[in-house]
Amino acid sequence: MSQSPSWCPQTFLDTYLFAAEAHRGQTVPGTQGLSYILHLSTVAMEVCAALTVEDFERPNLGMQCALLHDVIEDTDTTYEQVAQRFGDDVARGVMALTKDEGLPKPEAMADSLQRIRDCSPEVWAVKLADRITNLQKPPAKWSPEKRTYYVNEADIILAQLGDASAYLRERLRLKIVEYRSQHCGSD
Ligand code: NI
Repeated sequence: MSQSPSWCPQTFLDTYLFAAEAHRGQTVPGTQGLSYILHLSTVAMEVCAALTVEDFERPNLGMQCALLHDVIEDTDTTYEQVAQRFGDDVARGVMALTKDEGLPKPEAMADSLQRIRDCSPEVWAVKLADRITNLQKPPAKWSPEKRTYYVNEADIILAQLGDASAYLRERLRLKIVEYRSQHCGSD
């Protein structure tokens, strides 16, 4: 058997190292000090799982945007630096996945979703994977209202971007059901 993955492991490695350096010292909120690279790895894992079972035209674009999806929003890295290193399409995808901090919260999400929809399905897949990954046990300090808000937002993501991947759509759907039953009870 001589099959190779649709995405390039060397490109994964180069992109992963870039992201790891950029996010150095950051941790995943709600965990006790777990490295932020954990979040990027799991989002990339979800996207690579979709790339394994479904055909995408530009698998590397999805994998790279997954690894870099928070690099402009959460680090000093600029659009230009991402474009210079990984090309315009990757930078544009990452930019679409970056919330405009000048907008109020609900609008920032709607605005980002609109910009994601202007990109190719690989970028949509990253947003689906991001929310799949984030629908875990919420931080203890989150109020019931915040949890409900968060899972309702996931419904919108699913409705607007689900067409990119039947595989991720079903994973997100199940995560939403699970989150509602476990974390949005009457406590
Ligand atoms: Ni994320």
